[in-house]
Amino acid sequence: MPESVTFPPGFLWGAATSSYQIEGAVREDGRTPSIWDTFSHTPGKVAFDENGDVAVDHYHRYRDDVAMMAGLDLAAYRFSVSWSRVQPTGRGPAVQRGLDFYRRLVDELLTHGIEPVVTLYHWDLPQELEDAGGWPERETAYRFAEYADMVGRALGDRVVRWATVNEPWCAAFLGYSSGVHAPGRTDPAAALRAAHHLNLAHGLGTSALRQVLPSRAQLAVSLNSQVIRALTDSPADLDARRRIDHLANGVFHGPLLQGAYPETLLSDTAALTDWSFVRDGDLKAINQPIDWLGLNYYTPVVVSAAGGGPKGPRADAHGGGEHSPWPAADDIAFHQPPGERTVMGWTIDPTGLYDLITTYSRLRPDLQLFVTENGAAYDDKPETDGQVLDPERIAYLHAHLAAVHRAVSDGADVGGYFLWSLMDNFEWAWGYSKRFGAVYVDYATQARTPKASAHWYAGIARTGQLPAEPPVLGRAG
Ligand code: FCB
Repeated sequence: MPESVTFPPGFLWGAATSSYQIEGAVREDGRTPSIWDTFSHTPGKVAFDENGDVAVDHYHRYRDDVAMMAGLDLAAYRFSVSWSRVQPTGRGPAVQRGLDFYRRLVDELLTHGIEPVVTLYHWDLPQELEDAGGWPERETAYRFAEYADMVGRALGDRVVRWATVNEPWCAAFLGYSSGVHAPGRTDPAAALRAAHHLNLAHGLGTSALRQVLPSRAQLAVSLNSQVIRALTDSPADLDARRRIDHLANGVFHGPLLQGAYPETLLSDTAALTDWSFVRDGDLKAINQPIDWLGLNYYTPVVVSAAGGGPKGPRADAHGGGEHSPWPAADDIAFHQPPGERTVMGWTIDPTGLYDLITTYSRLRPDLQLFVTENGAAYDDKPETDGQVLDPERIAYLHAHLAAVHRAVSDGADVGGYFLWSLMDNFEWAWGYSKRFGAVYVDYATQARTPKASAHWYAGIARTGQLPAEPPVLGRAG
């Protein structure tokens, strides 16, 4: 890239967070436990047995946080709503105090000229709904539609862009198959049911939102569609790639965007389930027209037929654990892609983001795409003068933004980019040990310090221009 490149006018520059990862205040204003409260309070589930009880106290500090975002020239902020704050048991009337928090947050954003982008579900299911069976139960999808209606009514006059569900793959397969995420179940057949009911929740939720939102509303879902690569071109490895691609991607984009599950997904998983939980009319209910599609990307996945190469660590994001997240795929091997890694152990490969955008742009050329998450964790530490220098994150963001720009130049319609994450936060099973923020949080004092990457990103958000090279930062030592 010889010169700086310019993004299209109106390209939306943002940062993202999610409710359980930042809010804290878990027992305030009527909120009741979500599956992440229960899971994180179960010994041994989260690194150092940490939890989101306080998190980064955003519930109390949201005004300062929004002012900080404005200072960083962000045009948009993607956050999620905590279901159990709004409808504590997942049934019954909405709790006004819970809704009011999000109304205040949205007002504060709008006052600062920052567009709110709302995600309804970022993994924090009310515990009572899990006790009634959770996502493997069909009823949960109906509950979600009711909750979507409530939030739609409360915020619809001031929020334009909405996403129903964030990363249904993680919710279904890490939550119910590998069990490394809440609710921590290890039942691969239940994970497939969960995937279907998350799809149904999206469809019913989208219909519910359409009923209550003004026609200018723009609705979507955010997928962590995974870039799956075969280790070699052998037919066996290519077949392994096809199977994992269906379990990672087709299981969601098939019904959501194309109106059907891939045929071979059903046959590949026939030993576990006959898919009779997919009822007449479900595919139509799921395949609702949407206005944009969110893509989250961190790292690619490399697979082979077992025996086709060394059996490396499973490179599925947030992976690990003794149980596989991938149902009916024990004969497939996962390999660490070559190259530098972040402290998550995730290989840095910006071509994956390019491939992801161009794949979805070909699949649904009519849909505008947004990168709703992309970013990197590093062991950031303040220098003696208090600055936080994170050249590795800047390099990561620079390379990935260049990949987005290349996809746009090649014709993809990308409307914006949301850095994950605005600030350091509770990184699920990793607790507070992994820092993804553009803003450093001192967890003892809750002080926020924008890292060098935040200042750098602000310059891009302000100008729409990505410089040819990332800056060289000197560390004081
Ligand atoms: C994504 C999640 C987000 C965060 C990042 C690192 O899968 O949506 O909450 O954990 O990974």
